[in-house]
Amino acid sequence: MAEEKKLFKVTIDNIPVEVEPGTTILNAARKIGGDVVPPAMCYYSKLQGSGGKCRTCLVKVSKGSDADPRPMPKLVASCRTTVMDGMEVANITSPEVLDARKGVVEFLLLNHPLDCPVCDQAGECDLQDLSYEHGAEATRYEFKRRTFEKIDIGDHIKLHMTRCILCYRCVFTADQLTNKREHGVLHRGEASEIGTYIQNALDNDFIGNVIDVCPVGALTDRTARFKNRVWFLKPVDAHRNCENEKCCGKTVLWMRGDEIFRVTARKDKYGEVEDFICDTCRFEKKDVKDWVVEGPRTVARHSVISQGHYVGVHKPQETIKEVMSGRDPKLLMNIHSVSEVNQPKVDLSKIDGPAHSTDFPKLNGVQ
Ligand code: SF4
Ligand code: SF4
Ligand code: FES
Repeated sequence: MAEEKKLFKVTIDNIPVEVEPGTTILNAARKIGGDVVPPAMCYYSKLQGSGGKCRTCLVKVSKGSDADPRPMPKLVASCRTTVMDGMEVANITSPEVLDARKGVVEFLLLNHPLDCPVCDQAGECDLQDLSYEHGAEATRYEFKRRTFEKIDIGDHIKLHMTRCILCYRCVFTADQLTNKREHGVLHRGEASEIGTYIQNALDNDFIGNVIDVCPVGALTDRTARFKNRVWFLKPVDAHRNCENEKCCGKTVLWMRGDEIFRVTARKDKYGEVEDFICDTCRFEKKDVKDWVVEGPRTVARHSVISQGHYVGVHKPQETIKEVMSGRDPKLLMNIHSVSEVNQPKVDLSKIDGPAHSTDFPKLNGVQ
């Protein structure tokens, strides 16, 4: 008979849980769920070697184990520290941890730009959530911030290095998912930056996943950027029989009406993708006919997107009849396909900012 595995008993914020030896404190907390789960900006359960970079997951170990009950002398990164039998951990019940996390957020924001109003990640940004929950109201930093030029790394991905928090997730993704990694963290200390040496293109059939794993808006999808705010889009689950055998073909389509604005992998409540998808599904299948739509996606994590629910949806009010004193119009013309206002002069996904009236031929008298 197989020997039964001994489980370790751990207490996190006074809540007991039993986990297998080798489990990290973070994953033990995830087993409990709810508010006791420390935030994690660099750990990603699907990527080997991730974690230990950002320090947002710091916790206090007030009792090491039953065998050695001494507390750990310093706060520890919960994503990298494994549990011991009888360990006692404090996360949100420790003022010391909350204070340290506030300091970590302040450090993460030292060089961060005030880009949220124009950033594509806004509304689904881990750093935004973290600053809201743990950040200070104002910065004490008085020095010049680091700035970088935005660069295109490949046909589909734009890098805004100013927003990067150097979590290394994109580097691990490229390393573990694609055949050839062409980018990494260059230089050291405060000069560190994500780069492709001599600005190579990232061109690999799974490289688009770096966009999904990036916790901030440093890596954005060039086919979708600036086209819409995420909270105006409806996420729906969809799948297709993808020819790439490594791709699960299960995605979320971000739609407005029948138009697909972007395609992403499906994410769980911790913001981690359930399964990675290939670049063909992500960047090239933007027609509803390419997909079998399963239905509305429930966004499990607390987010502005989950406010766009589908229950109690009302048909929009028919205003034309109302302004015509209750009469139906005799004729309504749909000029959508013939109006030049709807035909921009340039490919909107290629312009370097929001679309402007001059990008359309017949607005403001511009020909
Ligand atoms: S990455 Fe997040 S915090 Fe930074 S500008 Fe974009 S939305 Fe704001
Ligand atoms: S670009 Fe994004 S995923 Fe890559 S290190 Fe920076 S923050 Fe992390
Ligand atoms: S999530 Fe633990 S150090 Fe970043």
